Amino acid sequence: MGRLEGKVAFITASGGAIAGATARLFGAEGAAVCCVDIVEENVNQTAADINAAGGKAIAITCDVTDDDAVKAAVDKTAAAFGKVDVCFNAAAYSEKRHRLADMPLDMWKSVIDVNLTGMFIVARHVIPQMQAAGGGSIINVSSIYGVVGAKERPAYCAAKGGVRMLSKSIAVDYAVDNIRANSIMPGPIETPRLLARNPSIEAVIERHGPRLHQKRLGKPEEIAQTALFLASDDASFTSGADMIVDGAYTAF
Ligand SMILES: NC(=O)c1ccc[n+]([C@@H]2O[C@H](COP(=O)([O-])OP(=O)(O)OC[C@H]3O[C@@H](n4cnc5c(N)ncnc54)[C@H](O)[C@@H]3O)[C@@H](O)[C@H]2O)c1
Repeated sequence: MGRLEGKVAFITASGGAIAGATARLFGAEGAAVCCVDIVEENVNQTAADINAAGGKAIAITCDVTDDDAVKAAVDKTAAAFGKVDVCFNAAAYSEKRHRLADMPLDMWKSVIDVNLTGMFIVARHVIPQMQAAGGGSIINVSSIYGVVGAKERPAYCAAKGGVRMLSKSIAVDYAVDNIRANSIMPGPIETPRLLARNPSIEAVIERHGPRLHQKRLGKPEEIAQTALFLASDDASFTSGADMIVDGAYTAF
């Protein structure tokens, strides 16, 4: 029996690397999965992979900053699978590097809108479903840059620090409803996303240098395994936590 048998997961950004790996793992562990992303082709592919592997998945194309569209997506998930009791929130905007004074205001707003407000919007619609289901687990993807600073990423750091505190706030307010909320803080993970701001994966490894104690980047599947624990009943007393998954990057 899978570790998520009987659960229904709503997974944003699941057309992407980390949430895609998480959606596939959750599907393989028995959850019914609603895959959500703004890019239709990618989210359809993730759902198709889960179904082809013998799992249960639907795909919904949706922008997490669109309150009405997110509510409709959550309602559709509950209609398809009977409830929503797990949420993995990972949508993020890929901005270019700027120090604060050089960052255009509309870029700042876009990062905060997708990376932080998007998680608020998703949470505000999954929480009533979790209350109706008798409980649930919300997993928000922050970053090590929600804990330590990164060069030339003021909006990303601010948003990811906000995600960390948003998760704690949900954990405190909704413990009474048997809802847990946690953040995952990945270190640098080998994903196409890194190539938006770096010329190559080798350049990323070079740049992070001695802080990569395992001499490698993380893998999306290693974040998915942490999410699996947080989604499962094994994490019944884990709430409000910062799950740093970075190969000791921030321990140095
Ligand atoms: N890759 C890393 O090294 C790393 C490190 C730390 C944290 N993270 C975080 O992990 C999460 C996943 O990152 P990834 O590396 O898999 O990136 P990714 O680019 O592969 O995935 C992000 C996904 O978000 C989707 N998306 C963007 N805007 C959206 C919107 N408005 N509505 C719905 N979907 C939207 C994109 O289409 C994409 O599929 C992000 O929150 C990121 O900040 C990544």
